[in-house]
Amino acid sequence: MLDAAMPSGLLADALAGLAASPKTLPCKWLYDAEGARLFEDITRLPEYYPTRTEMLILPQASAAIAAACGPGVAVVEFGSGDGSKVSVLLSALESPSAYVPVDIAAEWLDAAAARVAAEQPGLAVLPVVADFTQYFPLPAELPAGPRLGFFPGSTIGNFTPDEAVGFLRRAREVLGHGARMVLGADLVKAPAVLEAAYDDAQGVTAAFNLNLLARLNREAGADFELASFRHEARWNPVLERVEMHLVARRAQVVTLGGQRIGFAEGESIHTENSHKYRPDRLRQLAEAGGWRDLALWTDPAGLFSVWLLEAA
Ligand code: TRP
Repeated sequence: MLDAAMPSGLLADALAGLAASPKTLPCKWLYDAEGARLFEDITRLPEYYPTRTEMLILPQASAAIAAACGPGVAVVEFGSGDGSKVSVLLSALESPSAYVPVDIAAEWLDAAAARVAAEQPGLAVLPVVADFTQYFPLPAELPAGPRLGFFPGSTIGNFTPDEAVGFLRRAREVLGHGARMVLGADLVKAPAVLEAAYDDAQGVTAAFNLNLLARLNREAGADFELASFRHEARWNPVLERVEMHLVARRAQVVTLGGQRIGFAEGESIHTENSHKYRPDRLRQLAEAGGWRDLALWTDPAGLFSVWLLEAA
């Protein structure tokens, strides 16, 4: 297994983010084993419509995707998680040559590789531990032939629009000539629906966000008091994104990597953005990233979109 991303960057990233104003923590560190488990619980929450809506659309789109791709494509999934979304694609494609799950959470990647290997006997499964916000090489053992990128879950929305274009450009470079990509993107909708999806009644999303502080305590020797922070999901109507924050319930000082970090009461750490798109805007981003859209599918309620892109 390639190992391009070590958690050694956690402390450095956290120190830089918490020294900034306003304070931030990079969202990629949300996904350790505990974060991955909590995120799976999020995907089953009644308020969290994206996963189930995307899984409603994908089977309807998969025959057309398979027809557009032809035989022998290698599927590269960016942020594979537990690998549960790719099965519908892999079983629709005509003799896919390999599956390359890419994820920063090594624990999750093993599970994804094992799941797909069991479901698709004979398919080469070549996992890559990597941070897909940076360039990474595909495994050398990957057979030649066309590649299909798979980037579901509206993870694209966790980038800023500029970062999303950067990702799309890099993905095009990684996937090579003649590549295609299946992209899932959440759509703009009523703020109340969005805020509930990111601040559920059971508090699972709160636990997921707070796990970032728990992780800093476990892995970087920090002394965050979890009860002194609360999760908040705010819709930003100008930037059309849900912002996730951890808000200090009282003034306090936290120690991290030998440094003392002060918080005012009500001061927040901005941990994540989830941008929502209108189809025209997403099309613009895809074009800026070197892709043209071949097809777009949505659900009847217009909550979520699945795109088939082709390298321009
Ligand atoms: N890609 C997911 C999304 O934007 C990630 C996510 C879901 C998330 N819920 C979250 C990230 C809560 C941080 C906090 O929908």
